[in-house]
Amino acid sequence: MKIALIGADGQLGTDLLRALEGEEIFPLYYPGFDITRPEEARKVLTEIRPDVVINTAAFHRVDECEDRIEGAIHVNAFAVRDLALACRDMDATLVHFSTDYVFDGRTTEPYVEEDPPFPLSVYGGSKLAGEYFVRAISEKYFLIRTCGLYGLAGCREKGRNFVEAMLSLEQSGKPLRVVSDQWVTPTSAEELAVRVAELVGSDQFGLYHMTNEGRCTWYEFASAIFSYLGKKVELVPVDSKSFGAKARRPGFSVLENKKAKAIGLAGFSPWQEALKSYLRKKGLV
Ligand SMILES: NC(=O)c1ccc[n+]([C@@H]2O[C@H](COP(=O)([O-])OP(=O)(O)OC[C@H]3O[C@@H](n4cnc5c(N)ncnc54)[C@H](OP(=O)(O)O)[C@@H]3O)[C@@H](O)[C@H]2O)c1
Repeated sequence: MKIALIGADGQLGTDLLRALEGEEIFPLYYPGFDITRPEEARKVLTEIRPDVVINTAAFHRVDECEDRIEGAIHVNAFAVRDLALACRDMDATLVHFSTDYVFDGRTTEPYVEEDPPFPLSVYGGSKLAGEYFVRAISEKYFLIRTCGLYGLAGCREKGRNFVEAMLSLEQSGKPLRVVSDQWVTPTSAEELAVRVAELVGSDQFGLYHMTNEGRCTWYEFASAIFSYLGKKVELVPVDSKSFGAKARRPGFSVLENKKAKAIGLAGFSPWQEALKSYLRKKGLV
């Protein structure tokens, strides 16, 4: 399979590059390849003539999106529309990633793919608009919602992922305030990449939730990180309001991998196991 991989040096892109070894991969890097420059992007893709285009690019500094609405919509929605059009014209499959933040979190049951989204933030809304473009334009697409990604490469957009942020903040020796009223499922970019690699060759197109198994709050995730590392760190649980982030986030955005299970895709491991494996691979335990 000929695969064009957009954002190949990103957190997920790096793991996808590894997971897709053996395929004919065309890694595309920003800013040389920029999805917000549609004519140039289409020209490059048309020259490659890929069977599959994987888009990992996003504007996902969630709080910054609140102030840069046009930028968020440009990258997360209009550029995705243009990619979907280019893929349709080339008869290529589009693989695109979305987020648990398309939901409002007013539930205690994990969200399935059929649940109606209701984003609380500009980021969530712009990603949802991108989803709608993919679903309206593409005939062959995999639209994958995930949550709390961390990978060995670290998140490019945010500068670091949650695990790296905790390890860096801990260096200060001060107590760490961590949000304790948002339920998520931290997800290994490596595991997600392996599952995506299994999926892309199939014709089981559609919307998928894909995360590790289980759930925790960010506070519990931070506690697990330091506990596995055998570090004593003072963690202070705080609610979202006191934490004071600019963007509203859902209180519960746990996703159920319903469709992936229904088509018999290999299962994800519990988030605790994935975290231990990540820390081992980082050489920290
Ligand atoms: N990280 C999370 O916790 C999380 C959670 C849920 C969903 N997601 C979704 O998962 C996907 C991948 O996330 P990630 O953590 O791997 O992100 P990432 O590390 O920030 O990687 C994004 C990649 O896209 C590139 N890029 C940025 N703007 C671009 C543009 N205009 N044109 C082409 N390439 C561009 C980046 O290059 P530069 O670094 O050089 O700018 C980087 O290589 C995103 O769609 C995100 O919304 C992420």
